[in-house]
Amino acid sequence: MRVHYRFALACVVMAVAAALPASAADASLDAATQARIEKFDKGPATINVSSYPDKLQDYYQLFSQKCSQCHRLSRPVNSDYVLPEQWGRYIKRMMYKPGSNISGADAKKIYDFLVYDSSVRKKKALDAKLQTLPPEERTKQQQAIKEVTSKYK
Ligand code: HEC
Repeated sequence: MRVHYRFALACVVMAVAAALPASAADASLDAATQARIEKFDKGPATINVSSYPDKLQDYYQLFSQKCSQCHRLSRPVNSDYVLPEQWGRYIKRMMYKPGSNISGADAKKIYDFLVYDSSVRKKKALDAKLQTLPPEERTKQQQAIKEVTSKYK
């Protein structure tokens, strides 16, 4: 009886999982995260990169293509992530999602683009965020930013 019950339960769980649309509306996310993400999604879905270094304008194209496969590009465009550490961690998280089709080389280019973009377009938020960090961590993040921006001078 008990085994049957477990089997039935497993079937129900699998049926529900299969019925879910393959969208980025993730039921496993808590309400606060869900609300935060929805706000990002509603914002602009493009970045004016006309003043960015040429190479980073190319990487913007890669970012636009790879990071709009499961949700609108507006999600990362309006994200409150600004630190290299946040982008590094999140790009990895997205990369390991099934079907992401993001290679290690892609991830590095997208990382450079997002770190550079945060240092320009989100400079105010980035500076404010850096101020909240303990000195050692702040120095580490500032060095990581410099490492990227100095490549594209
Ligand atoms: C395979 C599908 C997929 C791809 C490709 C993808 N994402 Fe996502 N993304 C998701 C899902 C699902 C979520 C919901 C939150 C989670 O699972 O982390 C999400 C959430 C996000 C968030 C919001 C996180 C938060 O909590 O504030 C950001 C920012 C983001 N993605 C950036 C990116 C970037 C940058 C790329 C390209 C490197 C990318 N995504 C590519 C599926 C994807």
